[in-house]
Amino acid sequence: MTAAFPFKHILITGGAGFVGSHLALAFRESFENLKISILDNLVRRGSELNLQVLLENDLEFYHGDIRCREDFDKIPPFDLMIDCSAEPSVQAGLDGKPDHLIQNNLNGTLNCLEMAHRNNAAFIFLSTSRVYPITPLAHLPFNVKETRFAFADSNEVTGWSAQGISEDFTLQGARSFYGASKLSGELMLQEYAYTYNMKAIINRCGILAGSRQMGKVDQGVITLWMARHLYEKKLSYIGFGGEGKQVRDILHPKDLFFLLLKQLEKVSDWNGQVYNVGGGNEISLSLRELTDYCQNITGKKVNISAVPETSPVDIPLYISDSRKAQQEFQWMPKYKNHDILEEIYQWMSAHKDQLRAYF
Ligand SMILES: NC(=O)c1ccc[n+]([C@@H]2O[C@H](COP(=O)([O-])OP(=O)(O)OC[C@H]3O[C@@H](n4cnc5c(N)ncnc54)[C@H](O)[C@@H]3O)[C@@H](O)[C@H]2O)c1
Repeated sequence: MTAAFPFKHILITGGAGFVGSHLALAFRESFENLKISILDNLVRRGSELNLQVLLENDLEFYHGDIRCREDFDKIPPFDLMIDCSAEPSVQAGLDGKPDHLIQNNLNGTLNCLEMAHRNNAAFIFLSTSRVYPITPLAHLPFNVKETRFAFADSNEVTGWSAQGISEDFTLQGARSFYGASKLSGELMLQEYAYTYNMKAIINRCGILAGSRQMGKVDQGVITLWMARHLYEKKLSYIGFGGEGKQVRDILHPKDLFFLLLKQLEKVSDWNGQVYNVGGGNEISLSLRELTDYCQNITGKKVNISAVPETSPVDIPLYISDSRKAQQEFQWMPKYKNHDILEEIYQWMSAHKDQLRAYF
């Protein structure tokens, strides 16, 4: 499909990663004449595999680091930057060493903003639901159902309802080094938008899930879960008593792409606005329910132990209330739980031997 598109050259930082590679390929598929460049240092194990697919699809790759301004110098002028380069683990820094995360997500994002400013480019920031603080989220009332936690029916907290967490939820409190680094990035983006009239927008995503994510215990749990079933390796329900009832909503990156397309139609209105973006109640699952999906799809059952202790950065449930984005952009996610998990399974099965070492 070739459509009119107001940009000539998109730079996707972290474009060899999970989300960045999906976005890059989706833009390529939709706009065949668009120049698309990727800047990635390939620090995420497995991004080198995604890179092979990108290179087959006429994408320009620059091996570089967002922490290093000079690494942007070799990239020709661009008019849109999508920042997908981050250390995306909420556990980062719990080992007493937050330096890498801070350098990457804070200084790196600042460099991205500055380079976008110098190019007079519009800017899309992939932020996270993790900007919302841990204690207020953990104290929201919920009921314990057979397979999952579910929000209780009450409207007593601003920014919270049966629909999930909206943009009005409090930002007061600690949120993990990861969440704090992303919120800092948001604040700096809004300064660039205000001071320099940069056309910039923030999407606070819940869990994104799909093929090409190299899931680890600390990040990318959906693909990790499927892989451990496929390769018949053991798993653990960690935290909240070890029952696997914690819940997240999920979203396929292609649905994020469809939202970006709608947002890009209104780029002249961008001024640092924030949107919560996720699958909502309908596209959500607990770990237990994830196990059921994985068992049904793979036909395999693996040993799952219980680790009752909860990490200090974990929360029992999170559902994105995306109604603001849905209403402003006439957008709705299309991929349901089963579609996402089936896609992950098909990708892993097709590359079973190659991917084995990554999980
Ligand atoms: N995956 C999710 O569930 C999720 C949810 C909310 C927000 N996000 C955000 O989306 C973005 C992409 O996340 P992802 O899941 O694709 O992560 P990912 O780890 O799969 O991809 C990130 C990519 O950035 C690259 N990278 C990291 N540091 C870099 C640096 N200093 N310079 C250049 N490249 C660097 C990595 O090599 C990797 O290819 C991140 O900003 C993350 O905070 C992700």
